[in-house]
Amino acid sequence: MPADAVVWHAHAKVNLTLDVIARRADGYHELRSIMQPLALCDRIVVAPAPPGCLAVTSDSPLVPKGEANLVQRAAVLLQRRYAVKAGAAVQIEKRIPVAAGLAGGSADAAAALRALCRLWQLQPEDGALAELALQLGSDVPFCLLGRTALAEGRGERLTALPPAPALPVVVATPRLDWQGNKTAQVFGQLRLEAITERPDTQGMLRALAAADAEGIAACLGNVLEPAAVALNPVIARLKAAMAAAGAMGVSMTGAGPSVLALVSSETAAAVAAAARAITDLVHTTTLQPAPAAAEAGR
Ligand code: C5P
Repeated sequence: MPADAVVWHAHAKVNLTLDVIARRADGYHELRSIMQPLALCDRIVVAPAPPGCLAVTSDSPLVPKGEANLVQRAAVLLQRRYAVKAGAAVQIEKRIPVAAGLAGGSADAAAALRALCRLWQLQPEDGALAELALQLGSDVPFCLLGRTALAEGRGERLTALPPAPALPVVVATPRLDWQGNKTAQVFGQLRLEAITERPDTQGMLRALAAADAEGIAACLGNVLEPAAVALNPVIARLKAAMAAAGAMGVSMTGAGPSVLALVSSETAAAVAAAARAITDLVHTTTLQPAPAAAEAGR
């Protein structure tokens, strides 16, 4: 790694609650979601490159290439906005499962925005990075903020919350052979009038403020779950198996298919083993207790 490279951690996100309020005229949905970074993270390494050279590479073959890669798009947006002539070589060290409901691509893009600003010595005006982030995707503004937050609007209206306690969690991701935009398909399946159970957002806010693990577990919920389960019944099997193995609370995250289980140090191994009987993509990690960006910069 060159001495002048910049390293940034890109933390996975989970939705502790995810409620959908309304369908919007622009095709998006109005959300109300408490979003939380995980300690689980990718590493983004950004190194100088000559003008005209923008190379984005990864150690994972699952990471999209070219314009489909949000890091590539983030770099181009920054270059255009600030008339940057310099190039960059960006390496994505992938640990977060891809297309999993964990905002891995969004986290990489947010980390790239920050790391490239440092590499290219840019000082964006207030709100400018958040605006670019939203152009990249609805979860990118949250990833840029990098701390527990209530997300509303498309996901860009963010209210910072007290950081969650560093609770142990198991995140399990079924391997799906998905074609097309998974998130759009799950939102497309959602019947707002058929929602019978909504997450207890207020209860979750109280539980977070009190650092009450059992309260946090009891208030987990995601209205996208029935739509995602209808497309992929394995999500329901995974949830049931992790709950039966002793998880305090389980919920799908984002548009899925990952399932988040809050566990104790006593139940973590049994919950991970139960998930491993269904999928090999199982991570034992923790909720990120402090603003993620603070420990990320190098
Ligand atoms: O913003 P992003 O590109 O991540 O969104 C992917 C898709 O998810 C959108 O095209 C839309 O179909 C759906 N979506 C939505 N409402 C949101 C966020 C995403 O309907 N608030």
